[in-house]
Amino acid sequence: MTAQLIDGKATAEAIRETIKGRVQARLDQGLRAPGLAVILVGNDPASEVYVAHKRKDCEQVGIISKAYDLPATTGQQELLDLIDSLNKDSAVDGILVQLPLPAGLKADEILERIDPTKDVDGFHPFNIGRLAQRMPMLRPCTPFGIVDLLERTGVDIRGKHAVVVGASNIVGRPMGLELLLKGCTVTTCHRFTADTASHVRQADIVVVAVGKPGIVKGEWIKEGAIVIDVGINRMADGKLIGDVDFEAAAARASFITPVPGGVGPMTRAKLLENTLFACETLHS
Ligand code: GUN
Repeated sequence: MTAQLIDGKATAEAIRETIKGRVQARLDQGLRAPGLAVILVGNDPASEVYVAHKRKDCEQVGIISKAYDLPATTGQQELLDLIDSLNKDSAVDGILVQLPLPAGLKADEILERIDPTKDVDGFHPFNIGRLAQRMPMLRPCTPFGIVDLLERTGVDIRGKHAVVVGASNIVGRPMGLELLLKGCTVTTCHRFTADTASHVRQADIVVVAVGKPGIVKGEWIKEGAIVIDVGINRMADGKLIGDVDFEAAAARASFITPVPGGVGPMTRAKLLENTLFACETLHS
């Protein structure tokens, strides 16, 4: 089998167009535009690029983004105070703290300080708990985007065996919860899993979010499986590649996401969708 490519870039563009229309409809009704506060602490080059993309996306769809670029020396209390003031600001629907934070800052405490109705990354324990209990409110953007891509393949994923490789708070863990919500049988592999290959070989759906190129071999992929690659690894020549051995996996899979142009653009689109949802539904 040769896999069909899942075009995350085109899907994200379509989602942005829909959001742009809904924002314009609010303005036409005399309502305010949604607002997103984007906090970047320090000078991590990858984070600077991600944040610039998020701000540009907001501009494209009419969401007002407020930039808070803070020095790496920013203290814990200073950041907590900023979040407290944004929590109170009625023009702000979403608060995003770009991760990773510089060493010394306690990310857990900072993320937990965000009002759960403004937690557009979906990382707050309240929102993870809502997802775990089958009543999602604001959903972590990457897993939410992946579920959207899976649904758009037209394949009924209920009852399918999904194997998630990677158990991070940002992707792997909420991914398992999203797939469970959709009726999949879910296996999560992580650094202590004895034989990841044996699990992946049985998977109808494989989601890989580790951050190591080639960690999932093409020969592990079951004929006709759906392969979702969350990895974004920059090679010495500047080329971006995923975590999956793409060519060999694509020869066996039914559907596969490319890197770049697969999951990444969907993460960004879901951030906009969450911000609009917070504005329309949680702060109306
Ligand atoms: N760092 C890597 N991915 C993400 C993300 O989705 N949100 C935030 N805030 N930081 C990240």
